[in-house]
Amino acid sequence: MPIDLIVGAQWGDEGKGKIVDLLSEGVDYVARYQGGANAGHTIVIKDKTYVLHLIPSGMLQENTVCIIGDGVVVCPDALLKEIEMLASHGISVDRRLFISHKAHVIMPYHKLIDKLQEKRALFDKNKAIGTTGRGIGPAYIDKARRIGIRMVDFLNQDSLASKIDSNVVWHNEVIEKIYNEMPLNVAQIVEQYSKYSSLLGKYIADTSLILSNARKENKFIIAEGAQGSLLDIDHGTYPFVTSSNPTSGGACTGLGIAPTSISKVIGIVKAYLTRVGNGPFPTELFDDNGENLAKVGNEFGATTGRARRCGWLDLVALKYSVMINGISEIALTKLDVLDNFETIQVCTEYRIDGEKIDYYPASSELLEKVKPVYKSFDGWSSSLNGIRKFDDLPENAKIYTSFISDFIGAKLSLISTSPSREDIIEIP
Ligand code: GDP
Ligand code: IMO
Ligand code: MG
Repeated sequence: MPIDLIVGAQWGDEGKGKIVDLLSEGVDYVARYQGGANAGHTIVIKDKTYVLHLIPSGMLQENTVCIIGDGVVVCPDALLKEIEMLASHGISVDRRLFISHKAHVIMPYHKLIDKLQEKRALFDKNKAIGTTGRGIGPAYIDKARRIGIRMVDFLNQDSLASKIDSNVVWHNEVIEKIYNEMPLNVAQIVEQYSKYSSLLGKYIADTSLILSNARKENKFIIAEGAQGSLLDIDHGTYPFVTSSNPTSGGACTGLGIAPTSISKVIGIVKAYLTRVGNGPFPTELFDDNGENLAKVGNEFGATTGRARRCGWLDLVALKYSVMINGISEIALTKLDVLDNFETIQVCTEYRIDGEKIDYYPASSELLEKVKPVYKSFDGWSSSLNGIRKFDDLPENAKIYTSFISDFIGAKLSLISTSPSREDIIEIP
């Protein structure tokens, strides 16, 4: 059976957790393909709220098997806490969680260097990225530098210890010489990671083989992206991006699956726009509208608790995201947050010095300069609570959502109207 791929279409936090959870009903496998514990995916079921960072959002469906793929960077500490959190809710991951033997491991020096690098960028008045401090960038750097420690190394204690040793020595030089900080203790890290390896060893597997066999058995598979397309290291607003490929191409390398195995790409789109961390944001609002979006949308990071910057929906960026991902349909989330706005705006064009530009700028400096051109929509000034059919939406909500779908050339297949699993409008 072909694979459905779910990507964040903006700067992350689009509501992927909720949508992946609900689309996972009856699905055999959900496989996360990139990122790490920088992600925070919220799932609300009845009176319980779960925030997942590494474990795929299919874990809350009863029988779905979850895979942490080759392209993910695994923080053992965060993963163990997540497994514990689920256990405290009576959910066991045993025999339902597999971690790729090829996935790289986040080490204490990654987290430390991530934070030191950000602090230094602020101090130097260079712009800090505003990372989550979870060691993501430094871990992917080590992967590219070919010194990274992988999950497969957890299966051999002796070589694990020697790899940790040489890595800590190398990174301590950076920590001491560049950042003037205290070196890390090798023995402590070896001991800590030896414990992690014995706790996590049972989950390590050849996950691309599992997925390949599942395909042969006609199983239903969802590939789950973290972050968002505009945070993609290649296609996002570089350098204000994460260090992986959340875009659809990342699913192939991040899971060891063929592009031809993917049947459709579903983009998750927030009905307005948010961004955490630094970087250009042409439609950002600094007025009451921005404050209202933040307040009503409860726009605080699920991982770091930081306030998210808020703005109007940017259709130029979204159309670009549809193009680079091959998005054929979208799930539009948080439409309810706009319930009480008299006027809602969307950006349909970028201008620089009065001239329209018809491409998505690669340069963040240029993107800082663009002036958005807006189209205004009348709000619906009523609650969407309890609405389950597109036809039952207020007329102005139909106009707003249909405009988005027509403009970007992707089918609107789902509309989400609350954090809860059941508040969803399916559009056939
Ligand atoms: P993710 O990273 O894409 O999974 O998104 P996050 O979980 O970081 O952030 C989305 C937030 O919006 C979470 O608090 C969700 O519970 C919440 N949410 C998701 N869908 C909706 C919706 O349709 N309406 C409202 N009001 N909240 C939603
Ligand atoms: P989910 O999966 C929103 C942002 C950070 C920062 C940049 C780089 O929940 O949508 P990193 O720690 O990855 O090196 O930080 O990327 N960022 C996210 N923003 N949602 C996320 O994940 C994010 N993961 C990273 O705020 O701007
Ligand atoms: Mg999130």
